[in-house]
Amino acid sequence: MQLHDNTILITGGGSGIGRGLADAFHALGNTVVIAGRSQRTLDEATAANPDLHAMTLDVTEPADVHRFAHEVAERFPALNVLINNAGVMRIEDVTRHDLAGVEAIIATNLLGPIRLTAALIPHLAQQPRATVMNVTSGLAFVPLAATPTYNATKAALHSYTLSLREQLRDTSVEVIELVPPYVQTRLTGEHQATDPRAMPLDAYIADTMAILHDHPDAKEVIIERVAPLRHAEVHGTFDEMFGHLSAMGREFSANP
Ligand SMILES: NC(=O)c1ccc[n+]([C@@H]2O[C@H](COP(=O)([O-])OP(=O)(O)OC[C@H]3O[C@@H](n4cnc5c(N)ncnc54)[C@H](OP(=O)(O)O)[C@@H]3O)[C@@H](O)[C@H]2O)c1
Repeated sequence: MQLHDNTILITGGGSGIGRGLADAFHALGNTVVIAGRSQRTLDEATAANPDLHAMTLDVTEPADVHRFAHEVAERFPALNVLINNAGVMRIEDVTRHDLAGVEAIIATNLLGPIRLTAALIPHLAQQPRATVMNVTSGLAFVPLAATPTYNATKAALHSYTLSLREQLRDTSVEVIELVPPYVQTRLTGEHQATDPRAMPLDAYIADTMAILHDHPDAKEVIIERVAPLRHAEVHGTFDEMFGHLSAMGREFSANP
């Protein structure tokens, strides 16, 4: 991916990893549009960095994705990078399943990127060079038993990303997967932002940007911390990693 002279849309760009990426890409001279449901979250991000552009979007609503895709392409005709970063993560007890909650996770983490990508592909494919970057997770590769639907959406998005890349191989659109480790954001609540087991957000963004810089043809962005999860199956350490995550998940479930 070329790291400059882009117009970049980042879903969930008002907070956490999305906001970190927004600031990092803006610092490299790109035009950056952040999108999310909460106007307040977007306002906080633009107050801190007034050069960011912000637009509201709910990726779970097909009509809103349609409206948004039309508006963003009209306001930013040079738009050439879509970062599907918006996501939600919830602890679930499978013996007392809240199916509405399950559907919301799938609608956000899986249908959201599929819908928005479908809506914007015609626009992106007209650009001389374009990128779709899907944000999955190390949990796509070794699940955290406490969050079954979340893991499943990320595994599905990983698989979808492979097919998307293959189908678009003869177009101007490259497809990249970002695979974060456990990072200090508010994805699961306030406690995560200060959990010492999670990677500091700034360090995660710095490592990610370094890989994108050093490996412009990278298809997957795997920083050192997440490599043990990404490659567990190949390295024969899957059971060990799964056991380790399950113990961590029991702790999360006990202290959500
Ligand atoms: N932090 C980690 O440990 C970690 C690890 C692996 C992968 N990830 C992935 O990284 C991505 C970013 O998460 P994060 O950790 O930065 O957490 P975060 O700060 O909670 O960011 C999630 C963002 O998604 C947006 N969002 C949620 N539902 C949405 C919807 N229906 N429509 C539009 N935007 C929506 C939220 O904004 P609104 O609420 O305003 O809509 C928020 O800005 C997620 O895909 C997550 O799964 C995170």
